[in-house]
Amino acid sequence: MRERRKLRYGMVGGSLGAFIGAVHRHAIALEEAGELVAGCFSSDMNKNRKTADFYELDEERVYADYKEMARKEALREDKIDFVCITTPNATHYEIAKAFLEAGIHVACEKPLCFTTEQAEELERLTKEKDLFFAVTYTYTGYNMVKLAKELIEKGEIGSVVNINAEYLQDWLIDEIGAGNQTTTKMSVWRTDPEKSGISNCVGDIGTHIEDTVGYITGMHPKQVAAVLDNYGMDLDLNANILVEYENGVHGVYSCSQVCAGHSNGLVIRIFGSEGAIEWVQEEPDYLRVTKKGEPVQIYHRGTGYISGRAAQLNHIPSGHPEGLTYAFANIYHAFMNAILKRANGEEVSAVDLDFPGVHDGVMGVRFIEAVVKSSQNGAAWTNL
Ligand SMILES: NC(=O)c1ccc[n+]([C@@H]2O[C@H](COP(=O)([O-])OP(=O)(O)OC[C@H]3O[C@@H](n4cnc5c(N)ncnc54)[C@H](O)[C@@H]3O)[C@@H](O)[C@H]2O)c1
Repeated sequence: MRERRKLRYGMVGGSLGAFIGAVHRHAIALEEAGELVAGCFSSDMNKNRKTADFYELDEERVYADYKEMARKEALREDKIDFVCITTPNATHYEIAKAFLEAGIHVACEKPLCFTTEQAEELERLTKEKDLFFAVTYTYTGYNMVKLAKELIEKGEIGSVVNINAEYLQDWLIDEIGAGNQTTTKMSVWRTDPEKSGISNCVGDIGTHIEDTVGYITGMHPKQVAAVLDNYGMDLDLNANILVEYENGVHGVYSCSQVCAGHSNGLVIRIFGSEGAIEWVQEEPDYLRVTKKGEPVQIYHRGTGYISGRAAQLNHIPSGHPEGLTYAFANIYHAFMNAILKRANGEEVSAVDLDFPGVHDGVMGVRFIEAVVKSSQNGAAWTNL
């Protein structure tokens, strides 16, 4: 891959100082296969220019709005191969649609959009235009998550009988009882329904649980029974969700932004008839595996006993922790490889498609809608 031409990419959102846009840029840089050549980094032209200047973009490829960017890029001989959408949730649908219609591959942040109808339209458009669409559900990019998937596929823990997963944060604890007199925290747009959609906490982090569990086990919820807590805010800050999967197995998801002492506590526990697997996001290089009746085993990333995808995507020697940026790089590794192979007329393999795609985005939006509806109906079981 590294001997071939670099892909050209553009970015919408992600002005200097924004959270996730920079992570995308750093991850793509780690892959040494992509070059940032165009952008509409902010609707504030001053921020937009400052970011473009920092990355030394051509003046004519700094766009005041994404529509102009999609239209003008599509007409260029050296047009961007793909766009990264790193804006707040409200804008994803329109921006993704504009680039798909312009024939440009898309990598878009989660949650994909506001409604299932919009999500399904993006999925249909992706197929119709024969394009690649990544939805950057970060945690599927971690090597030890890939190992967990592989071990479960090999039957190491038998058949899955119970799932228990949580994603606990505390950065919105001051919002409890604040009655929408919100703080000035940078990311606080998430509590505004106009920018965030029908959910804050479930949309922001609950969907990561749904996607990561789905990736590891292949199991997606058939129905959910949920209680959301808003603590006087417009949108949820805390959620407890009972899940029934398509195969009848049950699980529990808990996500929160008001749990003191928890920064980014995603923990996934998969229990099988022959053992269990546990992955803790804040210690991402380890995977805890317990076989029934045996002592707990801790697998460590980068070691000789790990094979398969988790070994191939290893970036740095074990003991030097990999994290968020490397997980994004693994997602981009597959996504960019698929684009490059398509451009070169080569066959795109299943391994190249090992990135969260538009259908995962659709599942995420269905999950949010069902959870919110269930909570509004007194925690009634609600189909996805
Ligand atoms: N995958 C993950 O783990 C992960 C982590 C953080 C955020 N996210 C997602 O990424 C998205 C952005 O979140 P963030 O925390 O980086 O937000 P942020 O507020 O830090 O950054 C948003 C950026 O979008 C720009 N922007 C807003 N509207 C725009 C428009 N119309 N055109 C061009 N630029 C525009 C802003 O100027 C800013 O640069 C959200 O959808 C969020 O859910 C995902």
